[in-house]
Amino acid sequence: MTGKNKVLKTDKVFLDKMEKIVSLCKRRGFVFPSSEIYGGFAGIHDFGPMGVELENNIKNHWWRWMVQKRRDIVGLDSSIFMNPKIWEASGHTKGFSDPMAECQECHTRIRVDKVLGEIGVVADEKMSGKEINKLFDKNRDKIKCPKCQQQNFSVVRKFNLLVQSNLGDFTENNNNPTYLRGETCQGIYVNFKNVVDSTHLKLPFGIAQIGKAFRNEISPRQFLFREREFEQMEMQYFLGPEKEMEEYEKLKEYRWKAVLDLGLKVENLRWKQHENLVFYAKDAWDIEYNFPWGFDELEGVHARGNYDLTQHSQGCGKQQDYYDQNNDQRFIPHIIESSGGVGRYVFAVINDAYTEEEVNGEVRVVLKLNKKIVPVQIAILPLSKKDELTQPALKIFENLNDKFTCQYDETQSIGKRYRRQDEIGTPYCVTFDFDSLNDGAVTVRDRDTMEQERIKIDELENYLSKKLK
Ligand code: GAP
Repeated sequence: MTGKNKVLKTDKVFLDKMEKIVSLCKRRGFVFPSSEIYGGFAGIHDFGPMGVELENNIKNHWWRWMVQKRRDIVGLDSSIFMNPKIWEASGHTKGFSDPMAECQECHTRIRVDKVLGEIGVVADEKMSGKEINKLFDKNRDKIKCPKCQQQNFSVVRKFNLLVQSNLGDFTENNNNPTYLRGETCQGIYVNFKNVVDSTHLKLPFGIAQIGKAFRNEISPRQFLFREREFEQMEMQYFLGPEKEMEEYEKLKEYRWKAVLDLGLKVENLRWKQHENLVFYAKDAWDIEYNFPWGFDELEGVHARGNYDLTQHSQGCGKQQDYYDQNNDQRFIPHIIESSGGVGRYVFAVINDAYTEEEVNGEVRVVLKLNKKIVPVQIAILPLSKKDELTQPALKIFENLNDKFTCQYDETQSIGKRYRRQDEIGTPYCVTFDFDSLNDGAVTVRDRDTMEQERIKIDELENYLSKKLK
């Protein structure tokens, strides 16, 4: 992270946009703070009625691109709990850590690489303890505790991110901890052989999965960006070494196309190459999105060599290799991966779509979301609560809801209902009014232009199908 494009947390623009998005997400049922009635729970969020729809649409879009559109990629749903030896073999019990320093005055812990990044100093979690301590010492005078503003920090220590559990361990002190998975891809690696044996697939091929991951983040922050419980969408592509970098370039290109297809604005996206590679990696790039505080990681696309299956071969004592019939050769496959966080995507699409416009001297907030992923495609709104309008409007709702995702709403004034639909990004509102009783037509309002068109009820489904294509 260069920190070059970052707006500091104290910056007004950052706070304004961030506050507006967090407030909209709560107000309109996208994202709620976890356990709110008990004072919250740091680093965890709940997705509300609109959030879960948006989240599912983003996941379906990813699944479509990463599994269903591909002949060479299959899906998987592995468990959250796995044999703890997996996390030893993968290196997570020893090496999966973030650099942390503690304020000696108020005991607040800071994530050192991120704090250095915010003042424009290049640092990351892959640096050795010695390297990061040296960098931190050089910049101590520029870093204040976010809570008490003092500058009295401990040395930098590495803090393991794995979340422990006592599942199946009945000892008093949890002597044999298990772990909630820290990334979903380990479930893919340990099922590599099962997939080879149970399908017709030959190398190269990929395995994709979407699922929860857990990390004991020192300072969860920035809304959905850094959480302790989150969801990942990961695809691991297994191949021979000779094709690794060629396929890696193809995967980068493919992911870029998929992200654009999700509707994110190209000017808010960029590639960033990792400056510090882990020893086994061949290359690593991130797709970064322009979050309210500046460009930051949305997903990673990495060339990992044959590290993962080599580690598991040693860990379990059975070769996790592949027999190449054409060349009569056995080898441990190399892996290229794409790995993104669902929460970061939800955040990015909401941030990208958030628009404020002035309409008749008032501010209209509208989420100009891609129509493919909106939580609600069509809202059906009777002009008044009178039965003569609500009954036919409900009938339209039932007809359209067979084909589209619809919402029926008869509460409050039509103006307020339009604003509400704008704020959740509904592309079309269909209003049944008193004229509809005579002319058999309804008013269709476009979210983006606010233009209204009179459409015959008989032609409505056809009209909306074309619009929502
Ligand atoms: N298997 C590789 C892997 O897990 P990572 O960079 O640690 O790599 C991949 O994570 C993606 O998961 C990130 O690009 C990000 O989108 C998401 N992610 C990671 N940690 C996260 C956290 N604490 N909160 C939310 N999303 C996170």
